[in-house]
Amino acid sequence: MIERVEALLNFFEPKEVPFLMKVVREVEKLRIDLPVLYAGSGGDVEHGIILGNEIIFVDSHLPDITLSEIKKIIEIGGKILREKTVGKLGRGGKYIIDFEFFGRIRITYFAEDIMKILKELKSGLSVYFVKVPHPKEPNVSDLKSPEVLSKALNLIALNGFYLERECPLPNPELIGFEKVASGYISALSIHNDKGNLYRRVKRLSEEEIMFYLSNVRYK
Ligand SMILES: C[S@@+](CC[C@H](N)C(=O)[O-])C[C@H]1O[C@@H](n2cnc3c(N)ncnc32)[C@H](O)[C@@H]1O
Repeated sequence: MIERVEALLNFFEPKEVPFLMKVVREVEKLRIDLPVLYAGSGGDVEHGIILGNEIIFVDSHLPDITLSEIKKIIEIGGKILREKTVGKLGRGGKYIIDFEFFGRIRITYFAEDIMKILKELKSGLSVYFVKVPHPKEPNVSDLKSPEVLSKALNLIALNGFYLERECPLPNPELIGFEKVASGYISALSIHNDKGNLYRRVKRLSEEEIMFYLSNVRYK
């Protein structure tokens, strides 16, 4: 996946590259055959595809725009192998694209509220990724809420990762996570926060995670 970062240098801000390299080196060591889930992905293909080969994108906002942004895979030099839409986006449907870009990658995009996808995902995750949770549509759940976060964090496999910007875990050790790296990761945001990568080192139940997170107040 390091080759992907190197090939995408024109798409990244130079000052985020050191942190991205650290993230990729950690994630590469993980040999778990589970998907990456990017919550509130928009069409941010470049940050998604450095985390794994099977990536689920979820974003409830303007599916057509998100879809055309996802197709910039062609722009970044990816070779599309297959693409299809099953059902209607935003009404339980999904768009699946298989392509080559330093290895074979599949992105599955859902134009839904993240909570709906989390409830359906039973197999677990290698990485849960959130980069800037706002703005959001009024009718969807808050990516920073204890309900969403506890469900999402509980899906991460042991030794798997939580990567975030602007959804930090103030006391990761209390909910079975350890902070592995911090650094700048680019985003359109009014806040100037760093990104953080956490590893799940211990299994607590969703209820226990929820209990600790309910006391966290985000800005
Ligand atoms: C500021 S944008 C960030 C986009 C992308 N992560 C990036 O860094 O380029 C936040 C995105 O999160 C999406 N979002 C927020 N809450 C969501 C939810 N509950 N379910 C799905 N998408 C959500 C919004 O629709 C919006 O596109």
